[in-house]
Amino acid sequence: MKLPPFMLERYFAVHEFSVEHLLCVSDCQTLTAGQLLDLEPGARQAFEALPLGYTEAAGGPALREEIARTYRGIAPSQVLAHVGAQEAIFNFATACLNPGDEVVVHTPCYQSLHQVAATAGCTVLPWEARPENGWRPDMDELERLVGPRTGAVIINSPHNPTGFAFSAAEMARIVEIVSARGCLLFSDEVYAGLEYDMASAPRPACELYERAVSLGVMSKAYGLAGLRVGWVAARDESVLAAMAAAKDYTSICGSAPSEFLAALALRHGREIVSGLRALCQENLSLLETFMRRHAGRFTWVRPLAGPICFPALASGQDAEPFCAQVLDGCGALLLPGRLYGEAWSAHFRMGFGRTGFATGLAALDEYLMKSTC
Ligand SMILES: Cc1ncc(COP(=O)(O)O)c(C=O)c1O
Repeated sequence: MKLPPFMLERYFAVHEFSVEHLLCVSDCQTLTAGQLLDLEPGARQAFEALPLGYTEAAGGPALREEIARTYRGIAPSQVLAHVGAQEAIFNFATACLNPGDEVVVHTPCYQSLHQVAATAGCTVLPWEARPENGWRPDMDELERLVGPRTGAVIINSPHNPTGFAFSAAEMARIVEIVSARGCLLFSDEVYAGLEYDMASAPRPACELYERAVSLGVMSKAYGLAGLRVGWVAARDESVLAAMAAAKDYTSICGSAPSEFLAALALRHGREIVSGLRALCQENLSLLETFMRRHAGRFTWVRPLAGPICFPALASGQDAEPFCAQVLDGCGALLLPGRLYGEAWSAHFRMGFGRTGFATGLAALDEYLMKSTC
């Protein structure tokens, strides 16, 4: 299987560690290993005594227990740890889908969510979100797309790149549609916990439907992308077994220090995530002011959740030259929408989950006030 380049990751490979202002990343402000170890008495000593051999293939018991605790009615045995969310997406598409399956994918999306299935020989049917509908994809359209050949529906909420999030009622409708056909539901929930209105956030898909796979990770709402700890939670034993068998070929097992630190962070997850949600909301209010000041230049849909949004140039022109000019002019990195596909070329992604956002946004604002780009 020969996969095409992952456009967004190639873009970050060039710019992420050299630009002055990162204004488009999707992870939140991170912590140091020391800050994590300070969360619990005795953690530092336990970490120093940690054996560095292979870990359990499905993820260590302490880690799986903490992950399971974040769901209702999910046992540790129904959790399969992975190296990041990315490995889980790859293993799901290669192990649980068959060539010739139709796969309905919430679009635009993080490339691997459609690309791995497409390269594995599935027919991808986009279920498209449009800005004129507030990035809310249409449920009747989903009903039309799901048919007898559907292997899986793949959704992502809170959504990358738009910041849209399904309500509980919308998730219930999705579950109704997929369960009528009995197909799998792969629900990328890596931004879960960052909903601005937590009270109306839906339950994870794996709690709502027995053939759903919920994808989680430490990278986004916990700000711990460098741990590379992700997981799936699912009640369908055949899915878990197929993905576990695939994992023997991708990573075998996770890293012991990462699993230790992830379990520690999950024990303090509520505080970590609520702090980062507050940071996103604080930065989002700066971004709202910025968007009002530049209303003639940009259009946008205010996000409902998460650390990213997907504005567009009001002119409808390709945003790629604009992003290049901004990078050159004030050292701020924006992400051209065409990395998600041609249809989104007037858009660009912004990310506001880090503490340096205010400074970067001020630099961008100052540059735009004196530039014609
Ligand atoms: C929607 C979505 N899913 C999965 C991933 C992959 O996450 P990770 O980098 O933690 O493997 C990302 C990363 O940006 C993402 O945005």
